[in-house]
Amino acid sequence: MTTSPSDALKVLLIGSGGREHALSWKLAASPLLGTLYCTPGNPGIAECATLIDLDIDDHDAVIAFCHSFEIDLVVVGPEAPLVAGITDPLIAAGIKVFGPSQAAAQLEGSKGFTKDLCARFDIPTGSYGRFNNAPKAKAYIREQGAPIVVKADGLAAGKGVVVAMTLEEALDAVDACFEGHFGDAGAEVVIEEFLDGEEASFFCICDGTTALPFGSAQDHKRVGDGDTGANTGGMGAYSPAPIMDEAMTERVMKELIEPTMRGMAEIGAPFSGVLFAGLMIGKDGPKLIEYNTRFGDPECQVLMTRLKDDLLVIMLAAVNKMLDQVSIRWSDDAALTVVMAAEGYPASPRKGTVIKGVEEADALPDVKVFHAGTVHKDGELLANGGRVLNVTATGKSVSEAQAKAYQAVSKIDWAGGFCRSDIGWRAVEREKSAR
Ligand code: AMP
Ligand code: GLY
Repeated sequence: MTTSPSDALKVLLIGSGGREHALSWKLAASPLLGTLYCTPGNPGIAECATLIDLDIDDHDAVIAFCHSFEIDLVVVGPEAPLVAGITDPLIAAGIKVFGPSQAAAQLEGSKGFTKDLCARFDIPTGSYGRFNNAPKAKAYIREQGAPIVVKADGLAAGKGVVVAMTLEEALDAVDACFEGHFGDAGAEVVIEEFLDGEEASFFCICDGTTALPFGSAQDHKRVGDGDTGANTGGMGAYSPAPIMDEAMTERVMKELIEPTMRGMAEIGAPFSGVLFAGLMIGKDGPKLIEYNTRFGDPECQVLMTRLKDDLLVIMLAAVNKMLDQVSIRWSDDAALTVVMAAEGYPASPRKGTVIKGVEEADALPDVKVFHAGTVHKDGELLANGGRVLNVTATGKSVSEAQAKAYQAVSKIDWAGGFCRSDIGWRAVEREKSAR
């Protein structure tokens, strides 16, 4: 398709993480794009977009910006603005938004909401109870026994979940919730059956009616090698997830995603945007751990490096409710990303340390370094957050992508940072035993 400057599209992207750098990199490659704006952005995103300063909690200010800059599409990266309801007022003002309504974002914003939806529409998940006081929650835990999972109902930046191996741990987790450790998110707790199996992240792009499968990935949530230590937002990922073969994808679509889409439409909250299913695949088949209503971070980085099609075309098809006419092509290569985090992450990451060598790493073949928490100051690149860089590589196998990603990591000279040394270990072991 050819475009003249007058019909070249103007897009506003919201967010500042590695996920948004990957999205901006892919959107910037679209022949349909005229100008990409991003708020607040980061130094990596600044290479693909014009960064602007907007208070995204001030919906009127966002609407005013979109009108005066004639924005054709707003893409919302993170969950917080979606759950806070940024989409509805923008759509009411005639602006196209890729992302769910506030009602549909409850799939991520309230774990209890999602569990009730699963119960009502027969979507396989662990059994559960919802409680707004400690004594009842504790009585339920004593009745069920350990292992058991205690979750703050609301958004808690990945920290509101305790997989308790003992009764004592579970009872302590209930106290932590009601003592306000997770703020408002912990005003209600969901107690859930412990699910055993292999986890996978599965993505669909949705337009309210159609859900189009959009790849799979495996994340590494623990901070330390061998999946040890504290839970984090994710220390690395690879795509595709070997367990999500064609047959399993079909099963997940039929047993989980399609009833979710039907259910959301039936309750008056049709889902559009990214539906990200956290799955546990055990001996009884796939079960839902949780839904998120946006791309995963760092899962997005590996999806974007494998996506062959134009992301802007796909997002426009979603907002125009035309996904039934779209098919998606992926590279046959595997992609793997290693998260480099600031020392002290996740508890108390140290800011302001100097990072060198990003350009050398980025110049290696089949490597792309995405920025997350970085900042430029006085000509230097500094760490400015917990997760700081996502060193991403592709290869014919996960093992090959892993070797290239760690080769690139070795070019980065950053005394104040660390990364896991075993991202992709499960897939690499599988590949070894298949040889
Ligand atoms: P979530 O924030 O819901 O993704 O939970 C964080 C992590 O806790 C998940 O990635 C799982 O590893 C684990 N988890 C959550 N719910 C369960 C469950 N019902 N059974 C076993 N593990 C779980
Ligand atoms: N990496 C997990 C998430 O984005 O929720």
